[in-house]
Formats: sequence, structure tokens, C-alpha cells
Amino acid sequence: MRKKPKSFTFYIQVFGCQMNYVDAEIIVSTLTERGSKPLEDWSKADFIIAVSCGVRAAAEERIVSWLKKARQQNKNATIILTGCLSHRLDIEERLKEAVDYFVPIESWTTRIEGILPQQGCANPDFYQIHGAHESSFQAYLPVTTGCNNFCSYCVVPYARGREKSVAPERIVNEAKQLIKKGYKEIYLLGQNVNSYRGIDRKGQGWNFSRLLRTIDKIPGRFWIRFISSHPKDISNEFIETLAACDKVSANLHLPIQSGSNRILKLMNRHYTRQEYLKLIGKIKKTFPKVVLSTDIIVGFPGETERDFQDSLKVVKKVGYEMLFALKYSPRPQTTALRLKDSVPAPVKIARQRELDATWKKIAQAKNQRFIGKTITILVDRVKIKNTGGQAKTYILGKSFENKDVQAEIKPGSNKDLVGHWAEIIIHDASALALRGLVQP
Ligand code: 5AD
Ligand code: SF4
Repeated sequence: MRKKPKSFTFYIQVFGCQMNYVDAEIIVSTLTERGSKPLEDWSKADFIIAVSCGVRAAAEERIVSWLKKARQQNKNATIILTGCLSHRLDIEERLKEAVDYFVPIESWTTRIEGILPQQGCANPDFYQIHGAHESSFQAYLPVTTGCNNFCSYCVVPYARGREKSVAPERIVNEAKQLIKKGYKEIYLLGQNVNSYRGIDRKGQGWNFSRLLRTIDKIPGRFWIRFISSHPKDISNEFIETLAACDKVSANLHLPIQSGSNRILKLMNRHYTRQEYLKLIGKIKKTFPKVVLSTDIIVGFPGETERDFQDSLKVVKKVGYEMLFALKYSPRPQTTALRLKDSVPAPVKIARQRELDATWKKIAQAKNQRFIGKTITILVDRVKIKNTGGQAKTYILGKSFENKDVQAEIKPGSNKDLVGHWAEIIIHDASALALRGLVQP
């Protein structure tokens, strides 16, 4: 075991989904309260921490190579692997040279005591710790952790355990404090936020709609976003809440995964295409401004051309403005692993491309509705682009509907814009972004 240095520095890298950003922010809290400082350069850090993702094999391979490289470039660091790969014995075997500690999130607070001790302040429950929000205007708050759904392809229930809901007062109080400090975008995160069942101090149960309505009422100018939702848990009350809450983003990410009833059954999704479409009909009727997005897996074991055509049909019918088409990847422990990964890689790629082309065509056409309109964005960064030897400066951010928006600004005039609202007059729209000019 490497010797522990006295004053520590660390470098943290997050892989995978937004849930991992929640974890990373809490990890940073536990490290900084032990006097450790974050570094931007891993080669000099005493600790290198990878918050890992195991959702697909490609992600896993990227993390394995990253850790091996980290070890080569910083032989003195203590390297810690946490997140969704940290329970896996095969990963432990592959990385025994590169990684010093494999620390699952649920044991982070106890294990960290042995690695970076702190006198008299052990906090046994990870999600009781306030995250050190990296940004001064955007914060990720955990709402649920883990998952009980056991979709047949998904590793999450094995990697993150059963679903737990964070106490409602905790979420609401943290949101209040953040908004008071000027935060403008609150992300409520969980594998399946719609199955949120919080219990308050009085023993009263809260569902996700109540949580949204309560946060929506906090005074101040801010937006609430949430991810992810399972169609089986969307209630009428929730749809009405979405439409009624002014600060809740007009974007609903509702993964369908497949448009084929046969495949949905094999995936253990608990709904049919018809039920999903009925739900979408209700959502559009109650909340006409909603922008819908989804995830679809292509090449699930046994997926035929006909099954795939069913997925394509649903995409056109719903008119998603954003879609993540993912190639099926067999995952350890999952029940789908028993089925043969029968769809050849080139077919998966072709289906993925077709889905991409389809949603982009829809989004391209639908995004034209913004042309000539002035929309509000929360600026999250500034980018300098070189076009034809000329440097141009842009601000980038997202709209209320979660559209990526960029606007050109005069060089050097960007100082105060990041983390603030900006009004943009849209003059151009592609499938992926809206472009415009900052309203003076
Ligand atoms: N293969 C491909 N995609 C997967 N996802 C989850 N597990 C797998 C897998 N084994 C996708 C789902 C989910 C998104 C986060 O990742 O579409 O919604
Ligand atoms: Fe990846 Fe799933 Fe873990 Fe998120 S919860 S990091 S998507 S495996």
C-alpha cells in the first residue's frame, strides 16, 4: 500500500450519466472537508478518482484504458475506482495493477475513513452529505438512487442496488438554499424519479408531483429539470403538475426503448407501444408546449427488421425532438445475457443511423418554429471558434425546452454572461441547435 501524504490533492473524473455527477459532487465534499484540494492536472495529484459507468461495454473499456493510463502517468497516486464498475470482480482482476481501492458508492463514507481519515466526523449515509456543487448556477440533487425495475438489459439494479428515496425536506431545503445563493438551474436526478416515494418527518408520503410543486413554489427565478422517467410510473397527476408548474422545464425525456411489443416484453418494460402512445397523447393534450425526447436500444437480442420498423414508426408518430439511439450491449448479471446477442454489429450500426437520421429530420423541421422568436437561455459557457481564419466568440446555453442555443457576441464582452440569463433572437435552426443574436 502506498504511503499517505500529509496535505492531499485529488483529481476526479466522471464517466457516464448525470447520476454520477451527483456522486462526484458528494465525493468532492468528503475530500475537501478532509483538507484535500482538487487539481486540474492528474499527473501531480495524490489521489485520482474515477466515478465509473457500466451501462455499455464501450464505456467500460474506455474507463479501463483511462485508469491504466492514469497509473502510467502518475505512479505515486493512490487510484480509486468508484461508481457502477466498482463492485465487479472481473474489473477488479483486470485493474489490480492500476487501481488501489475499489469503493462502491454505498460504502464510500466508511471506506474513505481508512484511506483519508478525519477525526470525529464519520458520516455513514452518502446521500445525506451536501454535494460541493461545481458550478455556481447549476446543481444536481439526488431524488432517488438505485432501481427496482430490472429491465432485462440493464445493469443498474446490480450496480446501484435497490431504489431509495431521499427525504423530501432535504431536497426542498437544499433547493431553497441554492436558489437563495443565486442558482438558476436545479436538476432533480434519479434512475426513475417518477417512482419517488419520500417520507417526511411527520410520516407523510410524498410523490414526485408533490416534490415538483413544492420546489416550483420557492420564490425566485430558476428552472427545474429532472431525469429520468419510466413510462409505467407516469400518472395523470404528474402530467397536470408538469403543465401547471411554471419553473419546470418544458422537456420530458421518456425512454421507450423499443416500439415493438414483442421486444418490450422481452425487455421487461411493463407497457405496450399502444399504452405508451396513449400516454404521449395525454401529455401532449395537457401540456402542448412539451418537447419530447427518448432512448431507443437497437439490436436487442432477436430484434427483427419488423421490430425495428415498429420503433421507427413510433419515433415518427411521437415526433421526438431528441433521441439517443443506443446499440444493445450485453451486460453481466442481466437476464438478457441469457439471450443470444444475435443482431450483427453492422445491422445495429445501420439501425442506429436510421434512427438518428429520422429524429434529426423531425427536429430540424420542428426547430424552425423558433426562428424570429426571442427565447431565454441560461448561459453555461463561452466558446471561441475559428472560421476561415477569423475568431468568433459565442455564448452557449440551453432554453427552457432544453434546446441547445448559441449566439455570437463581441470578443471580450463575455465576462458577465456565464451563469446568467440571456435573451436570444433566433435566426437559424438545425436539428441539434438554435442560433441567434443576443438581444441588447
Ligand atoms: N445496452 C444498450 N443500451 C443500454 N441502456 C441501458 N442498458 C443498455 C444496454 N445493455 C440504455 C437505455 C437507457 C440508457 C441510459 O442506456 O436506453 O435508457
Ligand atoms: Fe452508467 Fe447506469 Fe451507472 Fe449511470 S447508473 S453511470 S448510466 S451504469
